[in-house]
Amino acid sequence: MFHLIDIKDLSVEEIKGLLDTAEDIIANPDKYAEVCKRKKLATLFFEPSTRTRLSFEAAMLELGGSVLGFSEASSSSATKGETVGDTVQVVGCYADIIAMRHPKEGAPMAAALKSPVPIINAGDGGHNHPTQTLTDLLTIRREKGRLDNLTIGLCGDLKFGRTVHSLIMAMSRYENVKFILISPEELKIPDYIRRGVLDKNGIEYVEIDRMEPVMDQLDVLYMTRVQRERFFNEADYQRLKDVYILTRQMLNRAKDDTIVMHPLPRVNEIPVDVDDDPRAKYFTQALNGKYVRMALIMKMLGVKA
Ligand code: CP
Repeated sequence: MFHLIDIKDLSVEEIKGLLDTAEDIIANPDKYAEVCKRKKLATLFFEPSTRTRLSFEAAMLELGGSVLGFSEASSSSATKGETVGDTVQVVGCYADIIAMRHPKEGAPMAAALKSPVPIINAGDGGHNHPTQTLTDLLTIRREKGRLDNLTIGLCGDLKFGRTVHSLIMAMSRYENVKFILISPEELKIPDYIRRGVLDKNGIEYVEIDRMEPVMDQLDVLYMTRVQRERFFNEADYQRLKDVYILTRQMLNRAKDDTIVMHPLPRVNEIPVDVDDDPRAKYFTQALNGKYVRMALIMKMLGVKA
């Protein structure tokens, strides 16, 4: 059975197929309105979410299916000590596919070992977020017209930012993609990404702690939030939380066709007056998440239009 735990579970060809399907859904939504009739998606969210959970649910509803689930661990039997393995064995009796978010790295993988239905990792701790990456790839391809020959700046919390880890894994498979990794020393990318993905595949990258010197080099600027919930102490969070703020003045240094992305939620790293800049694509990105999740649900359920 196919589970999506890590973006590498999908080949480049499969990703292209998903992005092409998402494009067709955008162009012809009526064609897909009933393809998942009588199918059920369970959203098991042990950690808070707005975009991922609701876009999964909207995706299934727009495919004609139904949704069930919970949005916080406290309303599930996890509070009584139930394991994720037992939970998915039970939920698999009620639903055809499960999207799971969990604060512990590896929890969706543990669930997949026991699940009778496909599991989608909707974000596990500071590890991976493969469906955010599909969202990001659709956005980059739609806005830039390509997934190769790009210089991508990743800025902020590169240590705990699971969207960054999955995006580097995905983009490293395309030709001539360079990364500029902008973070303070304490929030640099983990070694398993630096060595295990970038160095291992001979990908060009630089690590830097300031935005200004590199703004004019970027095709994509991917901003991230400093993740308070993953810090071990509040003092470190307070010291680092506002280290990068993309002001309009800062954005003026970028090229006219640079796109600004952010998985959201944002805190202070992008002031709201940047939203009007035509290069700001983060709300379009959130919308794209629904379409690509529709394509993914169809693929994983073996459903065609
Ligand atoms: N981008 C993202 O995962 O947002 P949520 O935490 O709101 O799902």
